[in-house]
Amino acid sequence: MNPTSASYHVPVMPAETVGHLVTAADGVYVDGTLGGGGHAELICRRLAPGGTLIGIDADADAQAAAAQRLQPFASSIRLVHDNTSNIRAILRSLQIPTIHGLLLDLGVSSYQLDAPGKGFSFRGDEPLDMRMDRRQPLDARTVINTYGEEELANIIFRYGEERASRRIARAVVRRRTERPVETTGDLARLVEESVGGRFAVKSLARVFQAVRIEVNGELERLRSILRDSMEVLASGGRIVVISYHSLEDRIVKTFFQECAAESVPSGSKYLPDTPRTPDLRILTRKPVEASEDERSANPRSRSAKLRAAERV
Ligand SMILES: C[S@@+](CC[C@H](N)C(=O)[O-])C[C@H]1O[C@@H](n2cnc3c(N)ncnc32)[C@H](O)[C@@H]1O
Repeated sequence: MNPTSASYHVPVMPAETVGHLVTAADGVYVDGTLGGGGHAELICRRLAPGGTLIGIDADADAQAAAAQRLQPFASSIRLVHDNTSNIRAILRSLQIPTIHGLLLDLGVSSYQLDAPGKGFSFRGDEPLDMRMDRRQPLDARTVINTYGEEELANIIFRYGEERASRRIARAVVRRRTERPVETTGDLARLVEESVGGRFAVKSLARVFQAVRIEVNGELERLRSILRDSMEVLASGGRIVVISYHSLEDRIVKTFFQECAAESVPSGSKYLPDTPRTPDLRILTRKPVEASEDERSANPRSRSAKLRAAERV
């Protein structure tokens, strides 16, 4: 597959995303999940001279695809191969003190799921990898072959919300005593044998999601990026997050609510709550979802939830 093709990944809720994010055409924006540069291109189109887009992705292939797509805007973009959880250090190194907007379109792109060799998909049979960033040592093979049964079961249950987590973890550990689980096909077969029947595809999706979240530390990194965004967003700056499963969405929703709160609960009915100055104003009371047209044109958009807030 050609990672430089424009069909690399169709951006989800394009108008809603850019509409919530871009408030000043000469501002500085960070796309913290650059991917193939779909959203980034739309942001660049909104920028006037003086405006800048910083695109960050942990996956080197995404950088290459985005660089090609964003070639016409080369003078106003900076591309960084790093994890966005390092956003403060990244901006410091670029000598950018504050930004006007941060976009997070979470998870992996269609390209990452489909590209051979990345090991994200249960549909192929290739080495168990699942790293967004090939420079990090922890991969899916290590998780599946070295984590204890209890730990594996907890990951599959917590990050995949898979009810057969214990059964699947037991099957993995039993199989490991004979030979290592080397490929996505090996793992898929173990899941299928454990759950069986017509529920297997959903279980496969859940188990692969769980292992991917563990390998890439996705939830801890999301929390860390959200925390750091409060340090780097200028007053009036926007944060827009698109999530694809309830675990991510819950983290974003809770974070926004805590930052927008006007008081801190005392925890006792005898003590008054402590007033506080909110850090954020929530712009989306309910998460924005894709239109029916978009849902039928782009199946990936069906689970997407967009939340946006403004730095006070
Ligand atoms: C859903 S795709 C983004 C697609 C992009 N919005 C577009 O329109 O082409 C998510 C991308 O973010 C990257 N990514 C996810 N979490 C990241 C993180 N914490 N730091 C850096 N990149 C991350 C993934 O490698 C992937 O390329």
